[in-house]
Amino acid sequence: MRISFCCTDTPAEPWLNDLGAALPGAEVSLWQPGAAAADYGVVWMPPQAFFDEQPQLRAAFNIGAGVDALLRLNVAPSTRLVRLDDAGMGAQMAEYVCHALIRHYRGFDRYDQQKSQAVWEQHEVLPRSAMPVGIMGLGVLGERVARAVAQFDFPVNGWSRSAKDIPCVRCFHGEQGLSDFLAASKVLVSVLPSTPQTRDLLNRGTLSRLQKGGYLINVARGVQVVEEDLLALIDEGHLAGAALDVFRTEPLPPMHPFWNHPRIRITPHIAALTLRSESIAQISAKIAALEAGRPVAGLVDRQRGY
Ligand code: NAP
Ligand code: GLV
Repeated sequence: MRISFCCTDTPAEPWLNDLGAALPGAEVSLWQPGAAAADYGVVWMPPQAFFDEQPQLRAAFNIGAGVDALLRLNVAPSTRLVRLDDAGMGAQMAEYVCHALIRHYRGFDRYDQQKSQAVWEQHEVLPRSAMPVGIMGLGVLGERVARAVAQFDFPVNGWSRSAKDIPCVRCFHGEQGLSDFLAASKVLVSVLPSTPQTRDLLNRGTLSRLQKGGYLINVARGVQVVEEDLLALIDEGHLAGAALDVFRTEPLPPMHPFWNHPRIRITPHIAALTLRSESIAQISAKIAALEAGRPVAGLVDRQRGY
């Protein structure tokens, strides 16, 4: 069996070594134009040529959860696209969101400022009932985030395409459920995939529906946020601020107004990083399942867009 590795922004050598060790019967190599045709691909943002030269691929394993970059390419219909299914990202996503939420809720930024001025002053803690958290996307990562937030006794709302029933989460779904979901939430967390339906979804109209003093945590994809609308709503005081991990342009350009905005916290797309050993364990188990004709989780539905 041949496995072709083609991952942008990823050091190839450790992946090639570890994939080789996990799949001892396979020939694992770094793809380059003209390379021998493979059975499976392990990919992250590959060029179109990777798929043009390899219409025979049985499956391409994306070493991330989001497949937006992959779905912009032409891929033979017979090549299954498989995304990472948690693989250690759920715990990271839950940590990131709980950290951002609690930092905001407990006013830790204010205590950091006080420290710089040697000020010893305590502030009242709001009741948690005043901080309902709305999670957009209740898939592999969103559901994990919702459960983690609920563990801290915040009221949790969730929104997805199809109806859900998750303990401790008030679930809304579909376009018809969006307005009520937003109105019931003060902190909004996006864990949605990037699709034509979610592009620009976080705009003046939707963000204004959040309760006054709302807060945005975006760990999904930057194209979901209309950045000027977010800045305007923060500057007008309807939103208290935002914690952003993803941006329309990455890396975030040096002159971007988010960098120096006092109410916007920024991280460089690290909310949930791909973990090599968990990912390789998952990919090798899925290759074994596909070879044996068994179904695998995480198959991408190209029509749906995720
Ligand atoms: P997933 O399992 O496919 O879940 C996606 C969720 O979004 C599902 O609940 C789905 O609803 C919902 N959804 C999709 N389109 C919708 C729409 N138009 N309206 C309402 N709900 C919609 O994906 P995941 O593994 O949780 O990952 C989510 C995203 O996180 C990825 O696509 C990626 O962009 C992002 N991500 C970011 C990082 C980071 O470091 N910042 C790391 C990993 C992933 P249904 O349940 O009804 O299908
Ligand atoms: C990272 O952003 C991912 O989609 O896994």
